[in-house]
Amino acid sequence: MQRRSKPLELTWIDKDEREPVEPHTLVERPESSCGTPDSGPTSGPRANMLIHGDNLLALAALERDFAGKVKCIYIDPPYNTGSDFEHYSDGVQHSAWLSMMRDRLERMKPLLHEDGIIFVQIDDRELAYLHVLMDEVFGRPNRVNLITVKMSEVSGVKMKHVDKRLPKLKEFILVYGKRPNVSIHPIRVTKPPERLAKYLKYYTSIIENPDDAPESWRIVRIKTFMKEAGLKTDAASVQAFQLQERHRVVYRTNNRMLARLSFPTTTAKVISPKGLTYIWWEGKQMLFLSDHCEEYLGDLWTDISTINLNKEGGVAFRYSKKPEALIRRVIELSTQPGDLVLDAFAGSGTTAAVAHKLGRRWIAIERGDHCISHALPRLQKVVSGADPGGISTAVGWSGGGAFRCYTLALRKPQ
Ligand SMILES: C[S@@+](CC[C@H](N)C(=O)[O-])C[C@H]1O[C@@H](n2cnc3c(N)ncnc32)[C@H](O)[C@@H]1O
Repeated sequence: MQRRSKPLELTWIDKDEREPVEPHTLVERPESSCGTPDSGPTSGPRANMLIHGDNLLALAALERDFAGKVKCIYIDPPYNTGSDFEHYSDGVQHSAWLSMMRDRLERMKPLLHEDGIIFVQIDDRELAYLHVLMDEVFGRPNRVNLITVKMSEVSGVKMKHVDKRLPKLKEFILVYGKRPNVSIHPIRVTKPPERLAKYLKYYTSIIENPDDAPESWRIVRIKTFMKEAGLKTDAASVQAFQLQERHRVVYRTNNRMLARLSFPTTTAKVISPKGLTYIWWEGKQMLFLSDHCEEYLGDLWTDISTINLNKEGGVAFRYSKKPEALIRRVIELSTQPGDLVLDAFAGSGTTAAVAHKLGRRWIAIERGDHCISHALPRLQKVVSGADPGGISTAVGWSGGGAFRCYTLALRKPQ
């Protein structure tokens, strides 16, 4: 007898049942909209949009205007941890959670641009199930990465169950493209201190006047320079200063193998056949610390701080708020300024705040009342320039732009 082959798939109770979606429209709440909207289409909803309502209904309502337009979706759904958080419940039956996620992922997919990317953050409880579910919805060939992110400091983890399991320090971000082989924008990051240490040992001189021509550079020992400037010269201070001044912190070598070029005996700039600039100074090659400090970002993110996260954006959203630096990375990997970013589980509005500060357009959907009590005031502060925290200093954000606030209303039959 011939066996019928079935595709590999995840099954769960009531998988075939889908939540009914009655058609809804977006209704602006002008009293909550903020700033003067930039020029754009004069009719119909347009980003930036903060939507207060269930995301299944909101995603369906967005489809007509935004199908194929979203470059980056980032979601941080309830992890189904069994907890009741202050602002929302996070413990639903396993099958119900899978159906909830499947129904929403299916509604997000048509909104994604052909070159678009979706990022879904999750912890270890549902990771394996969600991975298979996303294979079903987005297609296994469209997998891009599984990123591991450090989300807790060891010191901050509750040690209550330390004799039962290892403290949980990490979460995951599942990354899928709308199609196979979508492009991402590679990001350069500072190497971790343990890998920089071997360079810091040798790079102990600093150019006092780097803006002058190399012939007139004055090069001194870093500690001497710091003492003369009245700075502390303990090991930590020197290391911090080396990194801060990395573009003029140098090491001089006469190792002729390093560049494999003909060697000037005086001070000169030499362009290598590969177009790299080498500088010789009084017969020795000059190496800059800045050339060794960075590397390409990989899929293990351990460098994003979660300390004082509760203060970011000026709203408290315990155990759920994500760091702005993390969302910045996600958005910069997948979009250019002006591109559209969607977060359908917006919480305190982190994704919208970061997208706004980075000059991206955004749509944020949140069902809970904290949409109005937390995300709205947070985004109002971003627009008015009253949010100096998060990534504001790093990206030079001082306010500007606008957004509109919406609720959902049942669409009346024509
Ligand atoms: C983990 S939190 C997101 C936190 C967010 N990333 C931040 O940084 O603030 C998940 C959010 O999803 C919201 N949520 C859950 N189900 C939803 C639904 N069906 N529609 C809209 N929002 C929903 C919850 O109310 C909660 O605010």
